[in-house]
Amino acid sequence: MLLNWFATNARELPWRRTRDPYAIWVSEIMLQQTQVKTVIPYWERWLRELPTIENLAHASADKIHKLWEGLGYYTRVRNMQKAAQQILSLSRSRRRKEAESSGNSKSSASSPRRLPKCEFPQTFDAILALPGIGRYTAGAICSIAFNQPTPILDGNVIRVLTRIHGIKTNPREKQTNTSLWQLAEQLVVHAKTQGKGRDSALRCPDAAARRPSQNNSCSHFNQSLMELGALICTPRSPSCAACPVQQLCVARKDNLQDQLPNLGKREAATKRRFIAFVVERYGKFLVCQRPASVVNAHLWEFPNVEAGARVCDPQQSAAKELGLRTTAAKPLHTIKHSITRYRITLEAWHAELASPFPKIPGRWLTPKQLHQLAFSSAHKKILQTVAKAKTQKLKKT
Ligand code: ADE
Repeated sequence: MLLNWFATNARELPWRRTRDPYAIWVSEIMLQQTQVKTVIPYWERWLRELPTIENLAHASADKIHKLWEGLGYYTRVRNMQKAAQQILSLSRSRRRKEAESSGNSKSSASSPRRLPKCEFPQTFDAILALPGIGRYTAGAICSIAFNQPTPILDGNVIRVLTRIHGIKTNPREKQTNTSLWQLAEQLVVHAKTQGKGRDSALRCPDAAARRPSQNNSCSHFNQSLMELGALICTPRSPSCAACPVQQLCVARKDNLQDQLPNLGKREAATKRRFIAFVVERYGKFLVCQRPASVVNAHLWEFPNVEAGARVCDPQQSAAKELGLRTTAAKPLHTIKHSITRYRITLEAWHAELASPFPKIPGRWLTPKQLHQLAFSSAHKKILQTVAKAKTQKLKKT
């Protein structure tokens, strides 16, 4: 039922046209916390710029952050690069050992550039051991790229399974979470056995790729759970009348769709307020890079301070907390956004420099140069405002 529904209703997504584990891995990492429509252009650009594991392993930190700019949760991209470097070094040492044991050690060991391409690991445990890859991502890669019967459990799948089975306990609690993983595993193992004997050798290869078959049963089963959660079994107002498994669904029978999944109370949001300073010298703006091991590490931003809720004079804050002496501060732009449980307000101020050589560490760059760097989303909006104001000013003169 579900697989037939998937064959005719699945969205055409670019990562569904490949079985390259690297490309699928990139899609799964990008899709954590980010919507499909946002991910598509990022994924396409990433695979154009860094089409192989080796390309990712050797890319500069600036490049991978720029390709990720706007997706947020930048630890994801740094972990991906660490994982690519591990895969590369494991492949190299394996090839070397193979060459040595076949008596061919001298030529291969001394010319690593001639070694064959590195290979993505193909077992669940080896994939799970890589940085930034948890049980969900390892399960998704193994099932989608290698058609292995490995379960997946993310927000969409939790919603589908708790509703179909009428599970009323909180899926974040350990016992329920363990049962859900077991259920997801039983289902994908069952899909594998059901897929056996199905023939995919149909005349039209495109249609064959979408039809249920022996070599895509686990891949399509897991993706159909994700797809059902995204298209039909939505958090609010699910389209139960269009659901291929409506007859089995306990939540529909008992009218519990609005109550399941039972995620308990949300953690209260915490408000935070920051003030950023846009200071200009000879057409260049001062920006700073966030240090390693803080949130948004390696990204660029305008100098800023956390102000809290209290009313404060921005010029005094800049002088006291950043050593940046300014005059004529004027409000430029206020940005409100949320990251995890934080509701953040960022007030950007334009100010004149009162001392020509501020001590603050940073770089003075033109808007064109600033556009080459990776900014956090909120500071990117400030940059866009600044660049627009500059262009308008140029047009007037
Ligand atoms: N969400 C997480 N993984 C996905 C995938 N492979 N396709 C669509 N949505 C997803």
